[in-house]
Amino acid sequence: SPSTVDKKAGTTERFSSAGFILAAIGSSVGLGNMWKFTYVTGQNGGGAFFLLFIACLFIVGLPVLLGELAVGRAGRGDAVISFSKLSGKKWWGALGFVAVMAAFLVMTFYSTIAGWTLHYAVQSISGSLFESTDYQAVYDAFTASSAPIWWQIAIFVITGIVIAKGISSGIEKFNKIVIPGLLIILVIMLVRTLTLDGAAEGIRYFLYPDFSQLTFQSALEALGLAFFSLSLGMGAMLTYGAYVEKHQSLSAATLAVGAGDLAYALIAGLIIFPTTFTFGIAPNAGPGLVFVALPAAFAAMPFGNLFGGLFFILLAIAAITSCLALIEVPVAYLMRKYGHGRTKATVFVMIAMYVLALPVTLAAGGVLTDVTFAGRNLFDWLDFVTSNIMLPLGGLFVTILVGFVWKGAGEETGLKGWWLKAWLFSMRYIAPILIVLIFLKYAGII
Ligand code: PHE
Repeated sequence: SPSTVDKKAGTTERFSSAGFILAAIGSSVGLGNMWKFTYVTGQNGGGAFFLLFIACLFIVGLPVLLGELAVGRAGRGDAVISFSKLSGKKWWGALGFVAVMAAFLVMTFYSTIAGWTLHYAVQSISGSLFESTDYQAVYDAFTASSAPIWWQIAIFVITGIVIAKGISSGIEKFNKIVIPGLLIILVIMLVRTLTLDGAAEGIRYFLYPDFSQLTFQSALEALGLAFFSLSLGMGAMLTYGAYVEKHQSLSAATLAVGAGDLAYALIAGLIIFPTTFTFGIAPNAGPGLVFVALPAAFAAMPFGNLFGGLFFILLAIAAITSCLALIEVPVAYLMRKYGHGRTKATVFVMIAMYVLALPVTLAAGGVLTDVTFAGRNLFDWLDFVTSNIMLPLGGLFVTILVGFVWKGAGEETGLKGWWLKAWLFSMRYIAPILIVLIFLKYAGII
């Protein structure tokens, strides 16, 4: 494929208006909402944590999201070039490179879990998922087997094909079909889980805030989760922003993505928690929650294997739309930097990612699980370093660029008056201070 990057004008590929909104929602809605959000909320006591998450989403997340989109559209390129263009200093490109690396690293473990969802979809449809009722044992046996390797390769192949097709006939088209589909099946699931015996108890746990459950640590986790869930801090929204037409409203897009992300998190919680309370599963069971809790619910409902199959397929699709955004970050960088066509850049990125993605999968329940350095195995390290260090760092760079260095940010967003002031205030003070707090906490300083 020919290069689509013009030396002066930047990238020449564009989304349609609706296509961009759906692709941005597709990027934000993913395993972060269904898998990570539910188990982290479960580990942090439920309702009060959900409120904190919403606060983080609105006070920090959405302002940073708008900042990323503005930087991408004004820079018309990947994180590296947009950072150096708008700051007027070449060394800012190195800060943008942190984001490119973060996206690359997140993909290695994100694709592992995405692969699991494909396996669960097939097992559910065929019915073999329901042969045993000990879903924890089923999960343990699966993650210890070699099957996750093959499912992860499937994720790579599917994602690679869509990315290679480009912005409008690949990413945009795919999202337009699957994002509305996902909503429909989730609502069907919701009707089922809200009529389960334990629904009232589950809803109470999820929505009734008990602030005594909160710790300072929870606040930091809520912020990190808001970042992850909105796809911030790794140049993903920034890169999508580069493909947005000038006349499209970035603030409207930001609100749409925020609403979409929150809606999917809310629905996910309303599916998971009634289920855990009905079937006696501890809500703080950890990362296996979706894979261990939901099969019990499917087993207990009519046509459960079909619902289960649909649910896991759509979960896989939600994960794939996020993978698209993750992979586009390094692909856009390579296309611009080395003048590669899209196909060549995609193949190159995929191969490089896979070299790391394979051992990461083996560390998630497989033979490398017990190989730890300083208490964490490879999978845990990647999750920890990206979510807790690189993402907030990438977010911090965006806030500094937009708040203090690049003067055109306000104009690019189209915000006026009070809204502009509030936004700049968050970018200059609230967001960076909260992000720095996260670091001090993890560094053990506070
Ligand atoms: N936001 C995605 C999710 O919630 C994860 C993601 C992060 C996707 C960064 C793309 C870029 O699952």
